[in-house]
Amino acid sequence: MNKTTTKACTFEALLDNFHRIPFEERQSRLANWCDLDPQELQILKGVNALPVETAEHFIENVIGVFPLPMGVATYFHIDGRDLLIPMAVEETSIIAAVSATAKWVRRLGGVVTTRALGRLIIGQIQIPRVNQVDFTLQQLNFHKERFIAEANLLIPGLVSRGGGVKDLEFRALDREDGQGQMLVIHVMCDPCDAMGANLINQVCEGLKPSIEEATHEKVGLCILSNLVDGKLVTSQVVIDNIDPEIALGIEEATQFAKTDPYRAATHNKGVLNGIDPILIATGNDWRAVEAGIHAYVSLSGKYQPITEWKCEKNEYGGTRLVGEFTAPLAVGTVGGVTMLHPTAKLALKILGVKSSEELARICAAVGLIQNLGALKALATVGIVKGHMRLHTANLAIAAGASESEIPRLKEELAQALAREKKINVTRAKQILDALRQTEKH
Ligand code: MEV
Repeated sequence: MNKTTTKACTFEALLDNFHRIPFEERQSRLANWCDLDPQELQILKGVNALPVETAEHFIENVIGVFPLPMGVATYFHIDGRDLLIPMAVEETSIIAAVSATAKWVRRLGGVVTTRALGRLIIGQIQIPRVNQVDFTLQQLNFHKERFIAEANLLIPGLVSRGGGVKDLEFRALDREDGQGQMLVIHVMCDPCDAMGANLINQVCEGLKPSIEEATHEKVGLCILSNLVDGKLVTSQVVIDNIDPEIALGIEEATQFAKTDPYRAATHNKGVLNGIDPILIATGNDWRAVEAGIHAYVSLSGKYQPITEWKCEKNEYGGTRLVGEFTAPLAVGTVGGVTMLHPTAKLALKILGVKSSEELARICAAVGLIQNLGALKALATVGIVKGHMRLHTANLAIAAGASESEIPRLKEELAQALAREKKINVTRAKQILDALRQTEKH
């Protein structure tokens, strides 16, 4: 984790005016804080950020690499530690919003805590059409310990690190087509610091012959489940003495999302605004996490918000706001491309995490704070003003402004936004034309 005391400067000095200082100074403060060398700073600038030769090993038919901006979210204080959060994302205002919200929570003395609720990922082995359900279940239970031992022989390295298959669970499910039952074996495995997809898939396929032999049934699919509810992570934000009107607006926003899936989808997108960019920056499989979260919030049969905000009276008669997030977050700090992608490696270094659990817990906290920022804006001034003010730079580029014209056009666009309450590329082009005309005369 980022240190707060041993650095040449304090966290406050590191962050002072951080979003306003020039890029080179931002990099130099970062280098000081995270002990980055000049070569690592070059990587962050995109130089050898992902060499084509490395990319060729990652995927097929490589034709290039795809750059995304990477920033750091600031002012985070999670589980008592100050953190800089690397985020790779294309959307304007995500980093500004989450940093401003983290700063606001800090100023109000809010407390952000996290916990991991489990370590086990799930591999599924399907027996699609079971002839004798009772006999098959009996056989599976009888051979359970042998299957676990066999599975662990397939992953000796993981077992030596304390991980491996810990349990098997058996589920009999009625088939949707009404044609009897299917059996599903859940292989519960501790992947240590890996996300674990490749290893659990190999374990499931490796167990297939023994299961078929013991049950006299034919095994179908062998694959991990992304609904990793054996590996839930939870985060909580508690803010005391918050403006009751803001707190109530945030609570009402939760009720809206709980009542209406159309709102819940957008609510959850706002939470994922905080999580996906960290997953991308650290080379993690964000599709897996997204799929897991959406499945988890649908378990009741109704799509639900992944966070919940409630106001209560505190002991001094003021208002306390409490927010919670709980979801499966199967991430890795080893395996996959995390340690092979030069920029992902650096993102992990900036975060200072030593384990996948720490990374998952940070994601849970940032998602919750990102959500808080969005709900606070929506419940008060609305989202358009802040977002569009920051979006002026994109509009200026889209309108064709040169590097030297951008600052002036941004300013004019901000004024137009305040006056006309909306701006777009067409308006940006009109303003740019007008500016160029004035320049000529
Ligand atoms: C935009 O990227 C995210 C929001 O729509 C989230 C929300 O509505 O809660 C602002």
